[in-house]
Amino acid sequence: MAAIDYVEKIPNNVSLATDRRLMRALEDWQPKFLHWWREVGPDGFQTKDVYLRTAISVDAQGWAHFDYIRMPEYRWGVFLAEPDPGRLVSFGAHKGSPAWQDVPGEYRGVLRRLVVTQGDTEPASVEQQRHLGRTCPSLYDLRNLFQVNVEEGRHLWAMVYLLQAYFGRDGREEAEALLQRRSGDPDRPRILGAFNERTPDWLSFYMFTYFTDRDGKYQLAALAESGFDPLARTCRFMLTEEAHHMFVGETGIGRIVQRSCELMREHRTDDVRKHGGIDLHTIQKYLNFHYSVSLDLFGSEISTNAANFYTAGLKGRFEETKKADDHVLKEATYPITQLDGERIVVREEPALVTLNERLRDDYVADCQRGVDRWNQAIRRHGIDLELRLPHRGFHRAIGAFADVRMSPDGRILSEAAWDASRREWLPTEEDAAYIQSLMKPVVEPGRFANWIAAPARGINGQPIDFEYVRLE
Ligand SMILES: [Fe+2]
Ligand SMILES: [Fe+2]
Repeated sequence: MAAIDYVEKIPNNVSLATDRRLMRALEDWQPKFLHWWREVGPDGFQTKDVYLRTAISVDAQGWAHFDYIRMPEYRWGVFLAEPDPGRLVSFGAHKGSPAWQDVPGEYRGVLRRLVVTQGDTEPASVEQQRHLGRTCPSLYDLRNLFQVNVEEGRHLWAMVYLLQAYFGRDGREEAEALLQRRSGDPDRPRILGAFNERTPDWLSFYMFTYFTDRDGKYQLAALAESGFDPLARTCRFMLTEEAHHMFVGETGIGRIVQRSCELMREHRTDDVRKHGGIDLHTIQKYLNFHYSVSLDLFGSEISTNAANFYTAGLKGRFEETKKADDHVLKEATYPITQLDGERIVVREEPALVTLNERLRDDYVADCQRGVDRWNQAIRRHGIDLELRLPHRGFHRAIGAFADVRMSPDGRILSEAAWDASRREWLPTEEDAAYIQSLMKPVVEPGRFANWIAAPARGINGQPIDFEYVRLE
């Protein structure tokens, strides 16, 4: 079961060959996907050889295969984690009954919505990142961008498989619509806010892969607990791909921070812009922006939808099966940070309606770990400055803090006070123009743009000056 069939037109480990109807549906969708990829996937580089990894099985060693491939020839396909034959629904009202191998009729609509909402983020990020190849800081980074892009394309395949295999005609229509919406398009935007923002430069790209792909990790982890077993198995395998995207973000920001520190020490100044670097203050502003828009992706603190998804057994908590409670949560409470007039208070609320916030709390703790590592690097350079995650109420558009202005350190502000300081906290047009001015391609193997340090090591044991993309 673990072996992936690459003889088939559509690589898969779901015995596609035995399901003619599904195979025809996917074969009908495949050229439309390729058309979408060529139209709004990476701008340029489609005929170049890129050193990419391809899954050859879904177990831990499954990533063994690295080779040069042209992106449109990437073997996108359908890969599910190994089944667990005795698996039970582990939470909610159906706790203890066998996990569903088919969609329970009563939950068809909500489940489809969950799959579509997740699925929509995957092509959106490819669209957001499509122009970045033109300004890559190195061949190493260019290759990592394309690895992320082809895998987001594969995540779209993962969700489209579920739609086509389990949701009949509605599912087929949703699969088409996933190729028709466009990130940032006013008439047919992607579903979620952060996926309609632009990713205009590489600093934004690393922030996006650190903060926004990490939202993806937590959504996938919650869906990996689903009582609908095909969804759970699909998401479990996607999580292994997602880990690489967050690695790209964390090390990317880490390398920019490192380069800034080097320039600060070398020239004895905080203002490294004069020397072609990105100052820590600007990095902090981009962090504030990407973190706050990613927090919004978790939804409102109090949510009956979240309660319903949980009770229905469709979407669990992060590491649901590792938690020691009743997994029903009818009596439990959970502390929520909220507003009481002008004051920020922490109150116990019924656990079921606060599941969005609990997932957000897990996410916040995870984000903090990377920030701590960047700060260690800053300290190692003997520099007395810290990057910080802003208060969760800062710059929010969804939930309890959407209607107030708040400083990064958690003070509620008047509109005038906000206006006086927002340029200190969020990227300005001048910041964006400066970052843009740095975006010049560097494509000689082993060379890196001046604003980013070289990575600690190459990909798959290759040297740092390996030709990760062949541009000839
Ligand atoms: Fe993804
Ligand atoms: Fe991702």
